[in-house]
Amino acid sequence: MSIPLVDLKAQFKTIQNEIYPALQGVLETSMFIGGEQVSSFEEEFADYCGVTYTIGCGNGTDALEMAMRALGIGPGDEVVMPTMTFAATAEAVVLCGAKPVLVDSDPATGLMDVSKVEGAITPNTRALLPVHLYGSMPDMALLQKIALEHHLPIVEDAAQAHGARYNGVRAGSIGNIAGFSFYPGKNLGAYGDAGAVTTNDERLADAVRLQHDHGRLDKYIHTHVGRNSRMDALQAAVLRVKLRHLDEWNRARRERALWYDREFSGCPSVRQMGVTPHVEPVYHLYVVRIANRDAALKSLREQGISAGIHYPLPIHLQPAYGSLGYAKGDFPVAEALGQEALSLPMYPELTEEQVIAVAQAVRSLA
Ligand SMILES: Cc1ncc(COP(=O)(O)O)c(C=O)c1O
Repeated sequence: MSIPLVDLKAQFKTIQNEIYPALQGVLETSMFIGGEQVSSFEEEFADYCGVTYTIGCGNGTDALEMAMRALGIGPGDEVVMPTMTFAATAEAVVLCGAKPVLVDSDPATGLMDVSKVEGAITPNTRALLPVHLYGSMPDMALLQKIALEHHLPIVEDAAQAHGARYNGVRAGSIGNIAGFSFYPGKNLGAYGDAGAVTTNDERLADAVRLQHDHGRLDKYIHTHVGRNSRMDALQAAVLRVKLRHLDEWNRARRERALWYDREFSGCPSVRQMGVTPHVEPVYHLYVVRIANRDAALKSLREQGISAGIHYPLPIHLQPAYGSLGYAKGDFPVAEALGQEALSLPMYPELTEEQVIAVAQAVRSLA
């Protein structure tokens, strides 16, 4: 038995008849950076998310950093974010010159515990940065209420949540601005690195556009010190093909999650992650919690099942973020998740038999 955590080859087989002509079109026009493919993708992704503006860029980390820079966040500022996330969330804050102020995870969902956010706000706070981890979302209504009361913008880290909905509204359109990653393994993944910023705010969109292409207004006038974080046309062409399939793939992911849920029901040693009320998740990851996670992971790998850990070390325990001044024990829920969370194979092409086999193996190890 060999079951990968994600299977990009299986996905490619289902769309290769669309991918090859799309790539050929780019090669024939030889417009490799920007151009019609990128602007069309930006329009289509904006429509998909339900926002006015999308700016394609180099990757998700740049997307988040540019989003925060557009808000004017910089040295001396604080950004409230969960400690349990991929390092890039904190990296983007630090790259702006600001300080991540961390909050613990909600034990029910594994996502940012929004009830802890207010306690993390200080006079230096400039933004709230929820992470839609696993393709799910925290309590965005409560977060919006807190943001309104404290006059703070919300920056969504939507890198794992393309298409997820809160009260019917898509990730990337709930806060003031959002960053997406199109890293290949994401629900909407490029064939290389790519990312995007989404927003309804014209001023923020303009500020991101300026930054991502050397701070220029036109070819020769540079009004700001920018950077190079442009989306390339080959990635845009791939993303345009894949975007047409995204809803169907997300539906398939939800179906597979239900199969796992069914297989684990009545098995208390395998704890399933809860979903926040009003959220329609897109299961970028299907995560369970088991006590002897590391031994189970090893044994699953020996059986040919590739499981993963997202993430073993929360930000406050990462060596790179030691200077933030947190200590072991500061965020007990996230620390427990770091030891118990196990991501099981999840992709639209996974069969029901494979899900049953993985679940049986996990149950026998838990
Ligand atoms: C939650 C989260 N934030 C940010 C990123 C950064 O995206 P990228 O790798 O495209 O820079 C990722 C993905 O890698 C992610 O999972």
